Amino acid sequence: MDPLDSGHTSVPRQDPDWDSALQFLPASDSRRLEKKPWRSKRVWMGVGLLLAAVGVALLTGLLVWHFHVRNDVRVKKLFIGSLGISDQKFLEAHEDPNTLQFQALASRVTHQLKFIYSKNWVLSQYFTGSSVQTFSPADGSGGDGVVAYYQSDFNVPVYQADAVEEAMASLQQPAEDEQGRQGRLLLRPSGSLNINNVISGALDPRMMRSSLFVKKTFSIHVNKSDLVQSPGFPDSSYPPNTFLQWRLRADPGNRVRLNFDTLILEDDCQQDFIRIYDSLVPMEDRLMKEQCGFPQDSLSFLSSGGVMLLTLVTSEERNFPGFRAQYSQIPVTTPNCGGKLSGPSGSFSSPFFPSNYPPQVTCVWEIQVPEGNFVKFHFTNFFLSEPGQKSEVCGKDYVDIGGQRLCGSKPDSTVVSSSSNKVSVTFHSDSSHVDQGFTAEYQAFVPTDPCPGRFRCSDNLCLNKTLQCNGWDDCGDASDEANCECEASQLRCKNLRCKPKFWQCDGVDDCGDNTDEEDCRKCKLGEFECRNSVCVSESLRCDGRDDCSDRSDEVDCKKALALQCSASTYRCKNQRCISKLNPECDGEQDCEDGSDEDNCECGIRPYRSSRIVGGQVSREGEWPWQVSLHVRGKGHVCGASVLSRRWLLTAAHCVQDVGLNRYSQANQWEAMLGLHTQSKTDQWTVKRKVKRIIAHPAYKPLTYDNDVALMELETDVSLNQNIWPICLPTHTHSFPAGQEAWITGWGTTREGGVVASVLQKAKVRIINSTVCNNLMDQQITDHMLCAGMLKGGVDACQGDSGGPLSVTGSGGRVFLAGVVSWGDGCARRNKPGVYTRITEYNSWIKENSKV
Ligand code: ARG
Repeated sequence: MDPLDSGHTSVPRQDPDWDSALQFLPASDSRRLEKKPWRSKRVWMGVGLLLAAVGVALLTGLLVWHFHVRNDVRVKKLFIGSLGISDQKFLEAHEDPNTLQFQALASRVTHQLKFIYSKNWVLSQYFTGSSVQTFSPADGSGGDGVVAYYQSDFNVPVYQADAVEEAMASLQQPAEDEQGRQGRLLLRPSGSLNINNVISGALDPRMMRSSLFVKKTFSIHVNKSDLVQSPGFPDSSYPPNTFLQWRLRADPGNRVRLNFDTLILEDDCQQDFIRIYDSLVPMEDRLMKEQCGFPQDSLSFLSSGGVMLLTLVTSEERNFPGFRAQYSQIPVTTPNCGGKLSGPSGSFSSPFFPSNYPPQVTCVWEIQVPEGNFVKFHFTNFFLSEPGQKSEVCGKDYVDIGGQRLCGSKPDSTVVSSSSNKVSVTFHSDSSHVDQGFTAEYQAFVPTDPCPGRFRCSDNLCLNKTLQCNGWDDCGDASDEANCECEASQLRCKNLRCKPKFWQCDGVDDCGDNTDEEDCRKCKLGEFECRNSVCVSESLRCDGRDDCSDRSDEVDCKKALALQCSASTYRCKNQRCISKLNPECDGEQDCEDGSDEDNCECGIRPYRSSRIVGGQVSREGEWPWQVSLHVRGKGHVCGASVLSRRWLLTAAHCVQDVGLNRYSQANQWEAMLGLHTQSKTDQWTVKRKVKRIIAHPAYKPLTYDNDVALMELETDVSLNQNIWPICLPTHTHSFPAGQEAWITGWGTTREGGVVASVLQKAKVRIINSTVCNNLMDQQITDHMLCAGMLKGGVDACQGDSGGPLSVTGSGGRVFLAGVVSWGDGCARRNKPGVYTRITEYNSWIKENSKV
């Protein structure tokens, strides 16, 4: 019996006055108490005693509850681990739990685990059992040795949970430390296995959710390359409440390689996620990557040894298409991992770049340049992020250059210099979390003149002198723009950069510190500046009355107010006009008749997941409105966008006859919808003949004015995750300067370069028309829209014409802001791309195509 229990019952009985005290309880008549002073004293004593007794009883009860009940609240703790067995040989039978060999070895392992736990007083109390999940051959020497992957269960009082975690972690020390001293694991019963290391960790709680009712494990040998995919992929979404794991094993002496070509999951990693482990069981210490959503980074992984685990966990709601990945094996030798590099310049990169580097590699490069020179390292890519890594310490994955450690991710190129002609560079990855790695170039330099004939940035990067004081941060640390004399036509920003004056007050932060957009108000504080430059009180905005007399005070309003119609208002189907900006297809009903949300089956990626010069490869299904227009016998010539099952929109200049090429004839063309890689059509690609081409009648070949054309397909296409229309903006839809937009296409990836094979994408920004007109020799008409990056480097190019300039609206739908039309070269500085302004053609498109 709990000693506190007996204490509880004995306390009241020890009080001799207990009974009499009880008698006086009803005595509430004060007069009676006054008359009998000796009695009233007893009453008080009694009350006091009673209160004391109640207090003691309460306290006792509380203590009992505290210890008894809390003792009872237990949690199940599940540890997943691996241990190396050096005195066993791996047999094929060890892969199959139904064989005697598996069972025999598994039982020896579980016995030994029980023994190990019995030596620890915390673990021994709460241990409930272990099971072996699988075995694999140990990596490395001579083919001897087996790794056992196990699960150990503990039933732990809540208050002891941390102690159990600590005790388990303490077992993790290798059996021998670095000096070869024997650790505690060798304390073992006679005839037991020779265990050489134990790793374990608590299982991720999301993998223990009670709602997970489908749990399956697949075992795969990767010696024949093939695909793994989520259930139902690509025809349907993955199922809910599922925990699936794929155990991938390579032949001895090989690594597992896993390359994802598609990964579309819910954005919230608490719900649905995949995890990739450098192990056969989901051990936290061997987690290489967790991924959810629709990631853009490299999804190619390599194991350190011969095994890898891929897991998929899904929740009840919101299920997405899932993933498809290809597995294969490659020899375990690490190519390009370290070595001697000499000569005045050269380059090197992390192993397998741009794939993620494998865990547990160390590469050392010994670099030597001619005597008297120093070495400069320029990291053109640097992605070594690892959760929990402190950038000051760089104790996990890192690059070490002559004692200087770099880690984390560096978006801009990084330069590090040495102060001798010999440097040793080490790349190290630890056992968990991988990233894409780095690419580096090195160059010898004379310490007295690091940038001969060129401009020297503060980090020793060398630039062409023409880039100095040009208004752009070319160094990456803006040292090329410090201490510049601004010309008369330039404005001096607070950060000392010089920018053309005509960029002042254009709505875009060109200085980088917003100086060029400050003091742009002509009106006083509390006043609103109308488009016609009239100032009205701010309180008159969005009040439903036209106070500016050009209605601009009623345009950009959150709430849709009915207004008198004007050029800037949105006209509902019932001919009433509303003030809200871009109300169409934003998910809110703004018109009384709801017409602003009619015909909105457009502009979404049906899975709702979440070239272009200077762009990146896009994902399959990311741009389902993108079309490739092929000319018979020529292949890809132009891009286009899907407007409906039957109609496409492209550029008029794509469908003009050129010499003997009869591009204006429908029968010359073939439209490829749902295409991702040119020359690689798959079950998603739909090829359609073109029935009719309607080029804009006012198209001017010399000026590219009205560069838009409709294409009617011979038969309707059915819509699916890779073929979906983009939303057509109404005439009043606004795409303000500075707004983010995406360009997509298979055009050339450099001015004068070759066309891309995989659909490319790049992010650009809408550019103010006045600024653009000045930059483009006054050739920008009201029917054109400029977009790009004035710094250069990102643009559409030859072969992208006719393709979309896509802008995501406030409701998440994507609108066709422009059609790729023309440019001055490609991606040149201060030469943005020019697009056909589609808002100008809404009626023309509707009249001609009835979309
Ligand atoms: N006219 C080109 C074509 O036919 C497109 C040019 C776009 N150029 C640019 N720099 N944005 O493909």
